[in-house]
Amino acid sequence: MDQASELPYDERPANRNLSHMRGDYGWPFVGKTWDIFRDPHTLFDEHYEKYGPISRISITGSKCVLLLHPDYAQRVLLDREKNFSTKMGWQTVMADFFQGGLVMRDYDEHRVHRGIMQSSFKPPAMRAYATKIQAIVGKTVQRWAAQDRISFYDEVKRLLLDIAFEVFCWVDDSESQVPKISRAFTDMMEGALGVVRIDAPGFLYHRGLEGRRYLKRFFMELIDKKRASDDEDVFAHFCKEKTEDGEYYSHEDIADHMVFLMLAAHDTTTSAATMAAYYLCNDRPLQSALADEVQHWPRDLDFETIFHSMNGLIGVFYETVRMHPPVPLLLRRTIRDCEIGGIRVPADTMICVPGTYIHRLKKWWRDPATFDPTRFSEEVSEHRKHNFMWIPFGGGAHKCIGMHFARMLFLLTFRELLEKYQIEFAQEGYFPAKLQHFPFTRPLDNLPLRLVAR
Ligand code: HEM
Repeated sequence: MDQASELPYDERPANRNLSHMRGDYGWPFVGKTWDIFRDPHTLFDEHYEKYGPISRISITGSKCVLLLHPDYAQRVLLDREKNFSTKMGWQTVMADFFQGGLVMRDYDEHRVHRGIMQSSFKPPAMRAYATKIQAIVGKTVQRWAAQDRISFYDEVKRLLLDIAFEVFCWVDDSESQVPKISRAFTDMMEGALGVVRIDAPGFLYHRGLEGRRYLKRFFMELIDKKRASDDEDVFAHFCKEKTEDGEYYSHEDIADHMVFLMLAAHDTTTSAATMAAYYLCNDRPLQSALADEVQHWPRDLDFETIFHSMNGLIGVFYETVRMHPPVPLLLRRTIRDCEIGGIRVPADTMICVPGTYIHRLKKWWRDPATFDPTRFSEEVSEHRKHNFMWIPFGGGAHKCIGMHFARMLFLLTFRELLEKYQIEFAQEGYFPAKLQHFPFTRPLDNLPLRLVAR
């Protein structure tokens, strides 16, 4: 046994030797990073055609095993044999911003910590959030309609920030602090996505980490007050939750979970809403059909509608995140030697499962490059051919805890929009627009559009 393998898995260096495997690392140092930014689908397609569903690749300096098959996605995400660390997967790319968050914890520790969040997403809590979200969305859409054109991506970001301060962390006596918190949050989001990762004054990354530190302090100082309050926001739920031994979670843990939750919720949902609007603007008959459907919905949406029943709008949501999953790559690292598809994968090897490509595999999806929400209708249910061919929210123990929340937010926002307005591109001939694919998909110019009253 060499010295490195005697260390715990989260202290060992990554394995960089995959020479026994078919594949191609690309350029020295940068590997295939630029290809993935430019056009991930073409890159993965080339790998699939040349090397099959398992190959080696190098992205952002990490040598990893690329898995392009729903069976392999299932194997890794369900992880029945405890071979794949989520913490070590994300640590490589996001350690500074995700520290202490749920994806930075594995196995038993993760299960215990997920318990902190569970109560915040149960139906009674969600019902209260829905009422608040509906009110904010109503006012916001009215404001959008009063303008000649809006930059949809920026507006959705702002809307989600307003919702975050009402639903995730409501603070009645700190109006004066809200602009500061918003600034810290925006800095953190921008810094987390920065390409140049230098924690020194003048760099976006540094400003992002400063924002994160500010937010963490802010949450930590508020915990005792939240515990004593009757508040019902997500943060209050976290503060009041207890471990199996009847203890409160530590201030540090709660603050880390809040920061991670806000990071996990924001850009993902913004990207999904923006890309849905992009496809809807390009399909007026679909908009009209959806408008007819939502006219019949009760004003106060019941939770059967939001959670369980399939409808046209949910089809749009699912199809949008199929074509452009806001988390395009799922990352893990092996903690021991294992085997995938008959090929040996050494311990400490990075694993990349690109939902963004699995969602477009021709073998599994009919006409995968076409936006077609009906593939999710009850009658078609194309995604049910394999439990892991549609994985925008991941799967297994780390499956997105905010999935129903995101779906609710989506339904409430687009119901409000489509019931009263037709959404149109601000310029003729806009489609297809130039898209940015990483880190989150959006039209490069942030989707200028206008609302026209029905
Ligand atoms: C369209 C919107 C969203 C998408 C596509 C999305 C996607 C995902 C994915 C793929 C994962 C799993 C990551 C992995 O296995 O490595 C994840 C985890 C997570 N998401 Fe989401 N997410 C969305 C919205 C949200 C929202 C709104 C929240 C909070 C309200 C949220 C909170 C989380 C948290 C806390 C985790 C970590 C779960 C764990 O590790 O146990 N997400 N999300």
